[in-house]
Amino acid sequence: MERWRTIIEPFRIHSVEPIRITTREERVRALEAAGWNLFGIHADDVLIDLLTDSGTGAMSRDQWAAIQHGDESYAGSPSWYRFLDAVQELFPFHHVIPTHQGRAAERILFSVIGGTGKVIPNNTHFDTTRANVEFSGAEALDLVIAEGHEPATVHPFKGNMDVDALEHLLAERADDVPVVFVTVTNNSGGGQPVSLRNLKAVRAVCDRFGKPLFLDACRFAENAWFIKTREEGQADRPIPDIVREMASLADGMTMSAKKDGLANIGGWLAMNDDALAERCRTLEILTEGFPTYGGLAGRDLEAIAQGLREVVDEDYLHYRIVSTAYLGSALDAAGVPVVKPFGGHAVYLDARALLPHIPPLDYPGQALAIALYVEGGIRGCEIGTVMFGRHPDGSESPAAMDLVRLAIPRRTYTQSHVDYVIEVVAAVAEQAADLRGFRIVAEPSQLRHFTARFEPLT
Ligand code: F0G
Repeated sequence: MERWRTIIEPFRIHSVEPIRITTREERVRALEAAGWNLFGIHADDVLIDLLTDSGTGAMSRDQWAAIQHGDESYAGSPSWYRFLDAVQELFPFHHVIPTHQGRAAERILFSVIGGTGKVIPNNTHFDTTRANVEFSGAEALDLVIAEGHEPATVHPFKGNMDVDALEHLLAERADDVPVVFVTVTNNSGGGQPVSLRNLKAVRAVCDRFGKPLFLDACRFAENAWFIKTREEGQADRPIPDIVREMASLADGMTMSAKKDGLANIGGWLAMNDDALAERCRTLEILTEGFPTYGGLAGRDLEAIAQGLREVVDEDYLHYRIVSTAYLGSALDAAGVPVVKPFGGHAVYLDARALLPHIPPLDYPGQALAIALYVEGGIRGCEIGTVMFGRHPDGSESPAAMDLVRLAIPRRTYTQSHVDYVIEVVAAVAEQAADLRGFRIVAEPSQLRHFTARFEPLT
């Protein structure tokens, strides 16, 4: 196989979904009605939907078949046991608490261990993680290495935690830190991986201060692939072994099965600590359901169990990572500023670099995301000052970066779809000087990017 340069999709298409081509005028009308917020658009009006890789992937024949085995018993369903086995095969934590998606796991955990006066470090908190930490009254602190903030700097493990900064935090405020988090891959920082070596160093610091380490493991398989291909001495290891080693360095995890579970819904919280698990299960019953289904149907548990077996397949991961890099390299070659090296699940456009005439508080990421939709019907996601600029005290300041994420749903689009995306992004980049910023005319107090309404600046 290695003789050939073209990396093909390692699957045939079994069932197709039509996508609808719209006119530019229709798209502008849709945007006006949605307050220029891409989350408010009817998905039928999107041609290529790169808003998120979460829950948007195509399931396999074997996952659809597994769904037929879904057993909907309230307690002790066989589907639960199949799910539990599949999870513990990769993440052998003593307690696995299923949830309807990742943020439910976060909400339960931070309700138990967060609270006013606490601080929770992470390489970079994703938006829901940060929001759940802050909702509990605690402070969410990002401690990614300096390279993680520099879009153009190449580093093989740009998601790594700044171990010195973590040590410093613990030396000053150990009593206030209930848990240390590491997100694999680091989504908000560009889908960048964390090395085993960094995880071991974080573990050592946690041990020194007696603190538990949790993984936000949404994209664990992509992270393991980067470890296999980039970290010294890892090339010959099977992916499941690498995943188990990542798990062995942690005391627990939160997970969204909508990413590397290859499922459309689901998640879990897992841990070794018995007392903590008991407190979490009590909360789970209040909002998610009985601990053997946790807000999921038996059929969802089956789809996840099968997805976890497929996601660690090397042909799949090779195709996944190479096809993401295919998009990134083509945009780079076309002179579009992109975060490098390319992450696992997405390519991030550096809107601040492309649109230097739009100040961060006029939301260059929003301007670029809107232009991609207007010109080509492509929906990406602003990850910048709209998403992160508003603080709990009501103040606003520029986010560390203004990016537009083109997230790639798993096993969903083909190379010709991606070629179209490349053409549209390159054309928009050529007219960059003509783009204008936005102002926000209405916003909620938290997670404003989902529902804020905008107006274009003239
Ligand atoms: N942690 C990370 C790193 C994530 O990327 C997400 C979701 C979550 C937690 C929450 O999981 O959606 O199942 O509740 N990220 C999606 C995204 C929404 O578009 O990146 P969830």
